[in-house]
Amino acid sequence: MKTTIAEVGKYVGKEVIIGAWLANKRSSGKIAFLQLRDGTGFIQGVVVKAEVAEDMFKLAKSITQETSIYVTGIVREDERSPFGYELGVTNIQVIAESVDYPITPKEHGTEFLMDHRHLWLRSKRQHAVMKIRNEIIRATYEFFNKEGFVKVDPPILTGSAPEGTSELFHTKYFDEDAYLSQSGQLYMEAAAMALGKVFSFGPTFRAEKSKTRRHLIEFWMIEPEMAFYEFEDNLKVQEDYVSYIVQNVLKNCSLELNTLGRDTSKLEKITAPYPRITYDEALEFLHKKGFSDITWGDDFGAPHETAIAEAYEKPVFITHYPTSLKPFYMQPDPNREDVVLCADLIAPEGYGEIIGGSERIHDTALLKQRLDEHKLDPEAYKWYVELRQYGSVPHSGFGLGLERTVAWISGVEHVRETIPFPRLLNRLYP
Ligand code: 4AD
Ligand code: MG
Repeated sequence: MKTTIAEVGKYVGKEVIIGAWLANKRSSGKIAFLQLRDGTGFIQGVVVKAEVAEDMFKLAKSITQETSIYVTGIVREDERSPFGYELGVTNIQVIAESVDYPITPKEHGTEFLMDHRHLWLRSKRQHAVMKIRNEIIRATYEFFNKEGFVKVDPPILTGSAPEGTSELFHTKYFDEDAYLSQSGQLYMEAAAMALGKVFSFGPTFRAEKSKTRRHLIEFWMIEPEMAFYEFEDNLKVQEDYVSYIVQNVLKNCSLELNTLGRDTSKLEKITAPYPRITYDEALEFLHKKGFSDITWGDDFGAPHETAIAEAYEKPVFITHYPTSLKPFYMQPDPNREDVVLCADLIAPEGYGEIIGGSERIHDTALLKQRLDEHKLDPEAYKWYVELRQYGSVPHSGFGLGLERTVAWISGVEHVRETIPFPRLLNRLYP
């Protein structure tokens, strides 16, 4: 029976055929242990000299790393392996040989691995991270569909800039100027006025000269937007959503979390509600912690975010930032004009901001004034203002950065391992 590693549990005691690659092997005079992978998982194949033909055992011992094979064997339960099964190999048929595979079981430097990203993806660790990324995406669609949201796809080529103009990738759109989307938000606001509760999931681009463990040039964002939702309603969606993806990864990716050595007791605590502190309270906290250089109106950097996050076991919302720090579209606090009704969600364990969100300005005159203050071209934002001219309603939304979220949940240090082909400062290959 031809099957996959993920499915072998259905065939205990039976003979199966699996198309696989040899990930690693170790052998003695009498026995060879083959670490096999087929994309769906990893399994150990055991070849016993006394049980197979002589040339079969010779082949098992000489087969090279990443050679592709059809392997035939009997599925056995194996309590010692986290996977729970192994294969008693009876036959191997080589499909294509692999010669001098560059990524050997020894340690390699990061730059070397990044240059071989197209092959590095095959490793057990990278496989685990990609499976967790996939589970987060799956749970995202499940959550928002369950909650009555409609998926809407905003354009990638745009003529306007939601997050400020300094980080835009410029391109020509025939004779016009265009930019790669840095956020679908403005379009999602239009969609929310048509469909009520909407979410998007797509690539976004930031020409940021940042070289940190949290920054990618191209990253994927999930952007929900909800008509008639005010500031507090928005936070509730966020904490329910983030908890939902964490709990689903715990439930459906235990093998992968184990492969990564993730401390799952930390993830088990991630349930709604999450703590909230205002920017002012956060500033006071930082001063007490000895960050004396930072004053009201300054943005928080990674060390500040990490210090705040360390005070909590759950993600923490930092709310009501100074208006001057945030984009033009955020609704000012009606009780205090110098702060906006926004929140950043800071992940635990030093992973930084995973969500930025806010209530949006729904007053036409105020929006026009803010566009003017930010020196944005009124022609490019004409359509966005019109959303307020025809039955404006309070509305809110947020953007969750997928890669930072994958990094946090997987427990991997750097976002470069959380996307198949990372686009980083100075890296467009492979
Ligand atoms: O805080 P940001 O810039 O917010 C927005 O773009 C809003 N328009 C979203 C919205 O309200 N619809 O980005 C949102 C999130 C951040 O919290 C972070 O997780 C991620 O996107 N992010 C990045 N991830 C990787 N690399 C970068 N360079 C990132 N910039 C932002
Ligand atoms: Mg932000």
